[in-house]
Amino acid sequence: MRTQVAIIGAGPAGLLLAHLLYQHGIDCVVLEARSREYVENRVRAGVLEHQSVDILNAAGVGARMMKEGLLHHGIHLNFGGESHRIDFEALTGRAVMIYGQQEVVKDLIAARLAARQPLIFEADSVSVHDFESDSPQVRYSIDGQARTLECDFIAGCDGFHGICRSSIPAAQLNVFERVYPFAWLGILAEMPPAAEELIYANDDRGFALLSMRSPTVSRLYLQCHPDEDPAKWSDDQIWGELRTRLHVEVPGGPVLQKSVTPMRSFVAEPMRFGRLFLAGDAAHIVPPTGAKGMNLAIADVQVLARGLQAFYREGSEEDLSAYSATCLSRVWKVQRFSWWMTSLLHRFDDETPFDHRRQLAELEYLVTSRAAAQSLAENYVGLPLAH
Ligand code: APR
Ligand code: PHB
Repeated sequence: MRTQVAIIGAGPAGLLLAHLLYQHGIDCVVLEARSREYVENRVRAGVLEHQSVDILNAAGVGARMMKEGLLHHGIHLNFGGESHRIDFEALTGRAVMIYGQQEVVKDLIAARLAARQPLIFEADSVSVHDFESDSPQVRYSIDGQARTLECDFIAGCDGFHGICRSSIPAAQLNVFERVYPFAWLGILAEMPPAAEELIYANDDRGFALLSMRSPTVSRLYLQCHPDEDPAKWSDDQIWGELRTRLHVEVPGGPVLQKSVTPMRSFVAEPMRFGRLFLAGDAAHIVPPTGAKGMNLAIADVQVLARGLQAFYREGSEEDLSAYSATCLSRVWKVQRFSWWMTSLLHRFDDETPFDHRRQLAELEYLVTSRAAAQSLAENYVGLPLAH
């Protein structure tokens, strides 16, 4: 089989790239290791920057998001027993959309299938070859049958644990990493949101976050140890700890899902090697504070799709050559913001009393200085795309 662009991975990066290419008449095949059911039900973050919303709408896949998503004009920061609102609308004129990543994934899968374009689930033993030449190949197997896909380019959209990044010779990649000494215990619960907007809490017992998915489903998180076993937390314990840390009335309700998310900052440079392009989590990871992961993936593939369009339309490689630098300039700013939000809101095992006072002073500064609040707000609603 032959295609123009072979896309590895059907997360938000791979699926959106496939859709943007399809709209410009560029052929691609998406190969996904997991089943459709698995990827559609994988619970991840759920905040879309205003530009991500615009990109999904412009691509014609935003109708359900506009109907079911929740538009938020601010967030709350709770600390020292008080709640403070950061007003995005007043500070930036922008808002964010609360809409689960798996809903975006469902909408993109539906669009790809409606267009009758190739999307192959449960592809085994996917491997990438010859991407230093003009005719790369992807090999994989389906139901035990070996297949080869010839292509012009490979898009590695296969997440942090995928095979694309690790197929690039290690000596050619520069890796930057920070692992945090804590994780998030997250629950999805059948409970109407206990507040109208998200609450980020810095409490003496650790960080907590109140988020939501719909008028009947809430998403909540607690800072915990990285090796925490979620099964050891009873539902009552979780609700009790959330009430203590958030300082709000949380009614509770049936817990639908419980998991622990590790916290890591990671960047691999460059994001291109020959004709293999990395996008989304395959190239970089942010800690979830600020919910930037899906937005970074969307920004990357917007840049990559434009580069591929210029290549096929005009034969120009200029944008493709600039892909890595263009993405990384924004990726690093978003890395800084995600690290900063994480440092601001969590308790660190090795923190000194000085560190803690400085953290509280920073929070005070944020909620009393328009300049400081505006900096948070403009990063939260999303920095501009490169171009
Ligand atoms: N072959 C084919 N597919 C693979 C392989 C492989 N060898 N390895 C992984 N995959 C698939 C995964 O099953 C997953 O569906 O690649 C997909 C990668 O999707 P995501 O992990 O969602 O990554 P991405 O599309 O970059 O989206 C980034 O996901 O992890 C969150 O916080 C992150 O919100 C961010 C978003
Ligand atoms: C979520 O709703 O899952 C969420 C919201 C905000 C974050 C992280 C996760 O900062």
